[in-house]
Amino acid sequence: MDKKEAKRRIDELRTEINGHNRRYYVENAPVISDFEYDMLMQELSSLEKKYPEFASADSPTVKVGSDLEPGNGGTGVKAGGAVRKEFAQRRHRYPMLSLGNTYDMGEVDAFFGRVREIEPVFTMSAELKFDGTAICLTYKKGELSMALTRGDGIEGDDVTDNVRRIRSIPVRLKHSDVPVPEEFEIRGEIYMPYEAFDRLNEEREIDGEQPFANPRNAASGSLKLLDPEEVGRRGLECTLYHLIGENLAFKTHIEALEAARSWGLPVSEHIRLCRAMEEVDGYIREWDVRRKFLPFATDGIVIKVNELDIQRRLGYTAKSPRWATAFKFKAERALTKLLSIDYQVGRTGAVTPVANLEPVQLSGTVVKRASLHNADQMEQLDIHIGDYVYVEKGGEIIPKITGVELAKRTSGILPPAFPEYCPSCGARLVRVEGEAKYFCPNSDGCPPQIKAGILHFISRKAMNINAGEATVEQLYDAGFIKDSADLYTLDAGRLLTLDGWKERSVEKFLASIGASRSVPFRRVLFAIGIRYVGETTAKAIAAHFKSMDAIVAATREELMDVDEVGETIADSIISYFSDIRHLEFLLKLKNAGLAMETFPDESGKVSDVLGGASIVVTGNFSIPREEMKKKIEAYGGKNASSVSGRTAYLLAGEKCGPEKMKKAEKLGIRVIGENDFYEMIGENKI
Ligand code: IVH
Repeated sequence: MDKKEAKRRIDELRTEINGHNRRYYVENAPVISDFEYDMLMQELSSLEKKYPEFASADSPTVKVGSDLEPGNGGTGVKAGGAVRKEFAQRRHRYPMLSLGNTYDMGEVDAFFGRVREIEPVFTMSAELKFDGTAICLTYKKGELSMALTRGDGIEGDDVTDNVRRIRSIPVRLKHSDVPVPEEFEIRGEIYMPYEAFDRLNEEREIDGEQPFANPRNAASGSLKLLDPEEVGRRGLECTLYHLIGENLAFKTHIEALEAARSWGLPVSEHIRLCRAMEEVDGYIREWDVRRKFLPFATDGIVIKVNELDIQRRLGYTAKSPRWATAFKFKAERALTKLLSIDYQVGRTGAVTPVANLEPVQLSGTVVKRASLHNADQMEQLDIHIGDYVYVEKGGEIIPKITGVELAKRTSGILPPAFPEYCPSCGARLVRVEGEAKYFCPNSDGCPPQIKAGILHFISRKAMNINAGEATVEQLYDAGFIKDSADLYTLDAGRLLTLDGWKERSVEKFLASIGASRSVPFRRVLFAIGIRYVGETTAKAIAAHFKSMDAIVAATREELMDVDEVGETIADSIISYFSDIRHLEFLLKLKNAGLAMETFPDESGKVSDVLGGASIVVTGNFSIPREEMKKKIEAYGGKNASSVSGRTAYLLAGEKCGPEKMKKAEKLGIRVIGENDFYEMIGENKI
């Protein structure tokens, strides 16, 4: 391909991809599969690499800093849960910019100097920089009307339904001495306090899901969930720090935030009015220590010019306001000696080097171990056993080694050799092209991988067998179970020979194993742990093929006929079933009485008469509300939790929620009663 030809193809690809982005994100009606989309992106990106002269900041390959992620990040894996397809994208009324930031007090001084050039007399608001995910709330007539994420700063995801579930965000504002403006926007941060974060990660571990690396990721991941009720359970909090609107009566930023607080909006108590640079300095010093006692993560201090007229005169650069800056705290570090390195095999077989350190105090805890991530990182750090190393605790839970103090290196010490063989089972480790980690390929014979597989099998969303890590460890080490299917061969007599087991606990455990025999096929399919086949994918595959036999017999193409299945998943399924040991394992499960097919009534689907209509139920009916929701699904409808423009019907029972009724009326959504509903589905009311 010559240059001219390349340019033509680049332009063509950009137009085509932009069109797909629009159809996918804005119109919610994609016309190509994710795989095809990824291929187009890949072609464009490799052409752009080959012909850098045609690079463009507008290219779909370089849209940076956006939470509007295209597709599934090009992995072909669709089971991640938080697929953003479902959120409508809306334009921000005022672009959502970022802040200039620095780690250097000298630069804070320079910021002051620049403001002083415009106006010598001004005050400042010093605030904590909350480490979460940005949100923009719109209130109209005192009611929350929209919540958008930052997105790419121009357009954000409409996460209103999710935000309504966050306790600290009022849906309706309180009256106070200060009148509530007819319409305004208020921006802030949604964050997850440490306690909720720890709880969530514990649950995820039990359920065999990857824990979040830090509270910030947990907050942004949770905000993009497709199930508002689950969002509500995640314990998210919000703090608001920027009020914007037309013709507002406030003179200063702090005055505006105080008014917002008086209307019931969550505004930090730690905002401080500062009249001089020294006061800002004092605030920074004070909070560098105090923040360690806060129940949530902060990563710095934000300093804003307080007078709104001076803010207006200072204006904005293309990226950030000239009236504000952020001073970021350096992650805390400690220097300590590296004693040795362990190599841990994780549930996927990935081998992670973990450093054993001479115990050292860091952010209030004693650190003895730190992650070294992978072989590349060890090489980059040029780490030697016996070196003095810097340990940091960023937002992450596990401290990491960020550097070596070469001045303290003694002679004769050696760099560690990354093992060639699995430290647990002895298999030769492999490194997949493009991946930083070494893997133990012996997934069916390597103890930590087997135990992790069993833990996944018994997890709540899979077979829901009531046991934890210690029990699995004990049963495995005693030789009672070599794989998950062996759970079904356990009996009371043998269990009672184990330490700590009593009649009662044995009885409960066996009952829970027994109950798992009636778990539906889709969950059995999820439980067996085929790589990349998560809960949602398993459900879709089960619904499509209806039986394990049909899945085993399916070709790659047939597997990819299922919406949720891309190339990576299809390949993973094919490779799983081509291993005779897996087929033997499935046979054991079948003989143990587990469901190997979808029973006709399992999905409960009766007809499609509701044609995918989105229905919100409110109030009480002649049957429990949950039953009503099941009926909606059985007749091809979808349950939604709150009334929006996408709602087709509000199904209202007795004592129905006045809010929902009002909203439906406002949006012109049809309200139907229980009798209307039965008429629609052609069923008789019981
Ligand atoms: S003011 C026009 N105040 O930090 C920008 N931002 O790194 C107005 N943040 O985009 C932002 N705490 O997401 C502001 N007290 C605070 C903040 C804060 C956290 C976030 C925000 C911002 C980012 C910049």
